[in-house]
Formats: sequence, C-alpha cells, structure tokens
Amino acid sequence: MAFFSLPSSTHPIHPAQVRCSALKPLIYSSSPGFFSHAFRPTRVTNHKTHAEASTCKAQNADHHQNPSTDDSITSSKSNSSKTSAGQFERRDVLLGLGGLYGATTLGTKQSSLALPVTPDISNCTDARDTPNGIPINCCPPSAASYSDYTPSAREVYTRMPAHTVSHDYVKKYSSAIAKMKNLSLSDPRNFYQQANVHCVYCDEGYSQSGFPDKKLDVHSSWLFFPWHRWFLYFFERICKNLLDDDTFTLPFWQWDDSSGMQIPPMFNDSKLSLYNCIRNPKHLPRKVVDLAYKGTDSGIDPKTQIQYNCCTMYTPMITHSSAPALFFGHPLLGGGDPDPGAGSIETEPHNNVHDWVGDPSEPNNEDMGVLYSAGRDPIFYAHHANVDRMSYIYNNVLKRKNIEDPDWLNSSFIFFNEAGRPVRVTVKDSTNLTKLGYTYPDLPLSWLDRKPKARRKGLNLTKVSAPKASEVLPIKLEKPISFVVERPKKSRSGQEKAEAEEVLKIKGIEFDKGETVVFDVFVNEDDTTKCNPCKAESLGSFHTLAHGHGKKSTTSRSFAISEVLEELGADDFDSILVILVPRRGVVTIGGVEITFVPKP
Ligand code: C2O
Repeated sequence: MAFFSLPSSTHPIHPAQVRCSALKPLIYSSSPGFFSHAFRPTRVTNHKTHAEASTCKAQNADHHQNPSTDDSITSSKSNSSKTSAGQFERRDVLLGLGGLYGATTLGTKQSSLALPVTPDISNCTDARDTPNGIPINCCPPSAASYSDYTPSAREVYTRMPAHTVSHDYVKKYSSAIAKMKNLSLSDPRNFYQQANVHCVYCDEGYSQSGFPDKKLDVHSSWLFFPWHRWFLYFFERICKNLLDDDTFTLPFWQWDDSSGMQIPPMFNDSKLSLYNCIRNPKHLPRKVVDLAYKGTDSGIDPKTQIQYNCCTMYTPMITHSSAPALFFGHPLLGGGDPDPGAGSIETEPHNNVHDWVGDPSEPNNEDMGVLYSAGRDPIFYAHHANVDRMSYIYNNVLKRKNIEDPDWLNSSFIFFNEAGRPVRVTVKDSTNLTKLGYTYPDLPLSWLDRKPKARRKGLNLTKVSAPKASEVLPIKLEKPISFVVERPKKSRSGQEKAEAEEVLKIKGIEFDKGETVVFDVFVNEDDTTKCNPCKAESLGSFHTLAHGHGKKSTTSRSFAISEVLEELGADDFDSILVILVPRRGVVTIGGVEITFVPKP
C-alpha cells in the first residue's frame, strides 16, 4: 500500500501522525496508539501572544538609513486607491486591439469564445510522485453527480483574529476539528479528506470539463482567490454543522498586523486538535513571521522584521494591485495550461507564509510548505482566512474592483457541503460576502502608510553599460543579472496613469512545480545588498510554492511600476534597469516586457 493511500478502516490514520511518531520520537510523549487521546506531541510551546511591542507606524524600518527619513513617509492611500471608469473594452485588450494599451498581454486569451473553467470530477488521477519518491494519493471520495448551489445566508457572522478569541472559542474550534478528524475516512467531511480536496485542486487531480487533456490547478491564476474562498466556506459550514452552531466562524491569522505576526497560540497548544507537529521548530512563538521569507532566516531583529513585514504588505496590497488582473492573477480559461501567473498576494506573502511554517527537515517541507499536504495543518485554514480577508480589504477598504470578465465569473468548482454531498458553485456567487453569511471586522491596517521610499532618487542607471534585455534573455538564472528594458511610453499624464497601470511583466518563467522557486526583482538599483522591502527599488519576488509533483511549467510575474518610477524620480527615463537575483530553486527566464494594463 502506498504511504499516503487511505486505509479502508474507519479510523483515520493521518500520514502526519505516522511521520510524527516514526521520525520524531523524541518530541512526543509515549503514545499507546495513533487514535488515542494520549497522542500528544509535546514540543515546548510558549503561549505569550504578542510580538515585541512594535507597530508599523512606530519604528524606523531601515537599517541603512538615517531615522529622519521616516518622517517623510506619507500615506499614499488616496493616490493608489483611485479608480476611474473603464476605458477599455475587455476583449479588445485581451485580443490586442485596444490602441496603445492594447499591447498588453497580461492574459492568454486568444479567442472571444466563452471559456469558463469547470473541473471534471468524474475522473480523479492521483498526482504523480513527489520529487523524492513519496507517492501522493489525494483523490477525495469519488462523486458521480453533483447539484448546483447558490448561497443565500440569512445572517452575517464575523470572522475574528485567531490571537484575540476567547478560551471558549478555542475549545469550540478545536472540538470541531477533532470531530472532523474522527469522521470516517469515507466521509468527505473528514479533516484529511478536506485536505485532499485542496491537494486534488493543486496537484492536477482533475481535468477541465470539455478538455480531457488539460489538467486543473487553481493556483497561479485568477482562480486562486475564489477557489480558496469557497473551500473555506464549506470547511466553515462543516464545522458549524458538527458543532450544531450556526454562529461559529473560522478564525483568521492576522499576520498583517504586528500583534498577530507569529503563530497564533491556539495552533501551538499540543493539547488541542488545532496543533500540528510538522512545522519548522525555529518558527514557533514568539518568532516573528517573515512575510518575505525565501527559505532562510534573515536573522534581523524582531522590531525590524515587523517593519519589513509592513512594507511587504503595502507592496502587494497597494502598489501591485492597482488593476484587478494584477491583484487576482492572470486569466485561466477553459482549455488553458495551468499557471498563467499568480496575483500579487498569492505570490507574496501567501506563499512565503506557507514556506515559513513548513518543516524543512521533512522531505518536501511538509505540511504547510508544499501544496499537496498544506491542508493537513489546521493553521492552513486560518492562514487562508487572512488571505481571503485581503480580498475583503481590497474591495471594502481600498475600494478596488473585482474582475468583470464573464469567464472568471462563470468559472465553477465542486466541493463537498456540510452534508458531505458534492455541490457546484460559481465564482460570481463568491463575490458577495453577505450572501455567503460572513464578514471581517474593520481593523486598523498599519501597513497602509508604509509606502516604500527610494533608496536613492533620480539615479539614471540605465545610462551605465547594462545590456538590453534581448541580449541577455532567455537565460537560466544562476547568478544575479541586470538588463535594460525600453519603456513604450514615458512621462504619462495623470489621466493616462489613472486609466492604465505601467507593468513590468517577466514572462516565459520555466520552473519545476516540485520545488519552491524564488528570485528577487529590483529596478534601478546597483547594489541590491543595500536594499530591503521598505525601499522602492525592491519590486518584490517571484515565489512559487512546491506542489506534490515535479512537473515542468511556464508562468509569468507582473509588477506595477507607475508609482515606483515616480518615487524613484525615474518617470521621464526612456528605460528601466531590471535586476534579477536568484534565491532558491532552478529557474529560466524567457523574456520581459513593459505593458499597460487598464484600470477599471
Ligand atoms: Cu491552495 Cu495556500 O494554497
């Protein structure tokens, strides 16, 4: 029997339990059996909740610069949250017919046919082996048919930050997870079967309906946000049902606020069903999360880490989400190949937090650090509730718009509901939280005014002798490279900038889905070692999270640069200098271009 295949017994044996007891005997109390209540990992925990007292506003984030520079930090919320009426016809843009800005190739759409994505659940193929040979069997119980489901909640309940909830709430949530773990493995509501639902939608277990040769992966595309919203919706309903409590809501891990930037205590208490032993032992409380984690600990002090985290929140939430396609991700249309390109939050910090929690001593950084097993760690659901909260903030605080493309709105997924029955839901029914029956509290967002500042303004590095992009690319990225990219248009007017975002798109990124791959991207910077997430020269990273299988894929990564070039005093330059610094994994860069993406 394969290591991860599901036993026929009604007792759920979770591979994590097998691994925890087999591979890490020293960290467990002696246990009479896998299913006994006495199976209690006993890693030393520290239940102090709050990180070093530090907020985004209180500290100077910069090691390298005079503290007085912080005085100049001002809010850019009003600038960046502006919206204007859509000036471009969607299909013109996608087909490349829209005049100046029609040159944009953010999507892959080549046809004007309606092509929403729907999974074909009649056939589930177990994912291929992991790169180190561990087989993955994550097909959930098969379902011959399904019914369509439209939400219509009567009441709206508020999800709360995991580090602020009461003792009674924690007990209740833990008992819901315990009940899920104790359901028969043939029941799709079983906790590990829910994890399998995530696995199957990330490891290409299903094909796309109508396209038997095209596999489906909901990551690295515009399906990322709505799929995970629905997944949590049903997970939450299963909890409500097992608790017989309609008022119950999932907690969220508020890693965007200094008070929540460590593993919330409820997930670090070995007496609770919310605990998981397969996490990086160096990252347990009170370690402050590194939202830009790339696989090695930065070694910076907690207060500076908090400051960097605030900038790492600002950049994807404000700078790189100025158009819906940049925030949500690139279009995945029916019949399309997986991985057209992740949106800003999916790449960073979503992938980084997964990576940071996973245990590097496990073969594939399980559980959280690899997508096939991520759902086996109860912290996954709190992590994703905060990711989901970012789209709530995008809509309700930043007042930015959703994608309006019918192919996004009509894409659909199939989940198991609280009765264990398969139901099909659409993306369009995921956009109204009132109908879904939950919301998020409006908490202060201390990263809103953490706009990265120029390390050095007005330096025209494109005049130094860097090669043109076409002379360098394609290239296997083995050491840092720099090249110059011409801008199709410079010094655009305020109106032009309000209508379209200038985007640096790195494309033809070839990588292996079996490993986590990271490279950093800088603009107009000649010493990347002096840069940090609070410097405008640092655009962010390309960051994939390992899947369960080692399959080659090609994707892209887009960065919004209008605001950045203004901050760098480089808006009237003919070109930009781009620097790519490899951090992890093997990756080939195919090409690069500057395009203009319409803002609706
Ligand atoms: Cu489906 Cu956080 O991944």
